[in-house]
Amino acid sequence: MITVTRAGKHLGAEISGVDLSQPLDDDTFAQIASAFFDNEVVFFRNQTLTPAQQIAFTRRFGVLEAHVRKESRLADHDEIFVLSNKLDAGGKAIGAQDAGRYWHSDLSYKREPSMLSALYAVEVPIKDGVALGNTYFASSTAAYDALPDAMKQRVDKLRNVHSYREYRLKNYAAQQEDERRGIRTVQEHAPTPEQLASVPDTEMDVVRTHPVTHRKGLFINEGHTAWLTGMSRAESDAELAKLYAHITQPEFVYCHAWRVGDLLMWDNIAVQHKATFDYDPLPRLMYRTTVRGPAVV
Ligand code: SIN
Repeated sequence: MITVTRAGKHLGAEISGVDLSQPLDDDTFAQIASAFFDNEVVFFRNQTLTPAQQIAFTRRFGVLEAHVRKESRLADHDEIFVLSNKLDAGGKAIGAQDAGRYWHSDLSYKREPSMLSALYAVEVPIKDGVALGNTYFASSTAAYDALPDAMKQRVDKLRNVHSYREYRLKNYAAQQEDERRGIRTVQEHAPTPEQLASVPDTEMDVVRTHPVTHRKGLFINEGHTAWLTGMSRAESDAELAKLYAHITQPEFVYCHAWRVGDLLMWDNIAVQHKATFDYDPLPRLMYRTTVRGPAVV
């Protein structure tokens, strides 16, 4: 029997009483899945998982994705996307050093965006006893519920375009600016034409009904939404800025302070998330698996 303890007001819960390195019986898995969809973000402390065990557990939720950035996949485990500021013996980054700079939901620019992501904390930076590199999650379903009715009717009709191209170009420009200002340097090349061509822009409704919970949520995010359709870019930018400010209000946000051995999963249809980069030169190493979700319309 698992225990579920709520961690945030609208989202986030700790699940205890389970060892994810062991095969789970169907009943325990069903309890975990139910807690996951109810709480949108769930985490398990003190897990000891090999990459194969993380893959086996998350695969129970569906088909795993291999990230478009091949250079950041774990050797021999294509399904694991490595997030880290660590370098190998030759000075080369062992994973993506800059994933999650903007609020986003994973792979939301795809026709079949991710449903679930699972992040396993292998190394966590600690300074003066305090964990650094926290991850923030915002519930876009709670944010939708809190909109006035007139606003709900308006956003229900809106469509938006998610663009990997615009995201990568914006992210790259921000990295160059960080480097120029001496804030942080990451090993990332400008996106290649092949990478950009491999993930075309996707137009979809702003409001998405969750296939499991049937709750409505705002499926827009600062990282990947390029524009709202049917209006000028300036109008779109202004409207999006208001909606982002609404979604990321503290009452809809859960902040996770990591411990080594945490396995945390979030529902990309219901929440968006953002990383923090306050820990260099302390090492941080995380392994992420993502489960493909249903197609957007
Ligand atoms: C991500 O966007 O998946 C990265 C989150 C993190 O590293 O905190």
